[in-house]
Amino acid sequence: MSGRNGELPAYEICECHDLLVIKGIIEDSPAQRNFTFLDVGAGKYTWGRSVSEYLNQEFGGKGLTFRVIGVRGEQNPETTIIEDGCVTRFELGAFKIEEISSEFTKCELTLKDEVDGAWASWTMRHLQDSVGTLKQIVELLRPGKGMLSFDGFVYALEGDDLSPSSLVKNIFPYISELLQDTGNEFLAFPVLQTDNYHFILKRKSSEPCKIPFSYERRETIIEIPSHSSEGIIVFKRQTPRPDVYKMTLDDFNSLNFNMVKLAKTENFYYFYNHQGDRRILCFPDTAPSGSLSILKWIIDKGFWKISNE
Ligand SMILES: C[S@@+](CC[C@H](N)C(=O)[O-])C[C@H]1O[C@@H](n2cnc3c(N)ncnc32)[C@H](O)[C@@H]1O
Repeated sequence: MSGRNGELPAYEICECHDLLVIKGIIEDSPAQRNFTFLDVGAGKYTWGRSVSEYLNQEFGGKGLTFRVIGVRGEQNPETTIIEDGCVTRFELGAFKIEEISSEFTKCELTLKDEVDGAWASWTMRHLQDSVGTLKQIVELLRPGKGMLSFDGFVYALEGDDLSPSSLVKNIFPYISELLQDTGNEFLAFPVLQTDNYHFILKRKSSEPCKIPFSYERRETIIEIPSHSSEGIIVFKRQTPRPDVYKMTLDDFNSLNFNMVKLAKTENFYYFYNHQGDRRILCFPDTAPSGSLSILKWIIDKGFWKISNE
């Protein structure tokens, strides 16, 4: 995955196609007229361009307007604001994601409580303060509705073994626990046989996003595979590590999961995606975790739908 820089038109976090998620978000709010979608770490801005094209095709002329905003660290030749049918597209370069709230204020963009869908793909792992930035992004989401899709990053707690392998092993439980701490609904989802993990968070209310950590120190780590080599932050927890609900086969079966073929062996759950490939869904210690409501939304909307064989 090295060299990846936003060339893809979709990120497919938790195996959900972004355009279907966007459609689902819009359909769930029939009275809402204006929507905002955000690409945090936009690379070459391909995502925003393909989302704009889709929104114009699917929702143009229906009285809806959209803001599609991509932000990235690299400088643009110029700040770009493009009026494109029912979409206003922003391509904002030289943007400090760690200061995302104040950076938007500088651009005179009001986004607090207004973002309906945000994606941060292969971005959080590069940030100086991923945890603090996550809090800021969550507070941009529309209360009760807005969703953030993102992938794994490393942080440590006081007393942790700071070897790269141990840090990577902690990504899934630590981010799941962090999301649980915030009090929002979320789905934590392992990516097929890799050390990458996907997460979707749905903002519950307009309350500030709670993170019960205090900053201890920054540690320089030589290299963490597929992650930033810029170092990590070590935090002290102010509350005990919470229990995070791990989904079971019964949960999947109770959610009309006949749409997806599922089998369980001693160590793995399997499911078949729509191409019919057999894929590993989870290992016992990385079972999909969090709240069933998001899993139910994904299944009810048919994002994982396959033809029955
Ligand atoms: C590996 S690329 C991923 C691009 C795209 N999201 C994808 O998945 O293909 C990382 C992106 O995050 C941005 N980025 C990383 N750290 C950043 C920071 N501290 N501030 C602003 N942008 C940052 C880079 O500019 C780049 O656009």
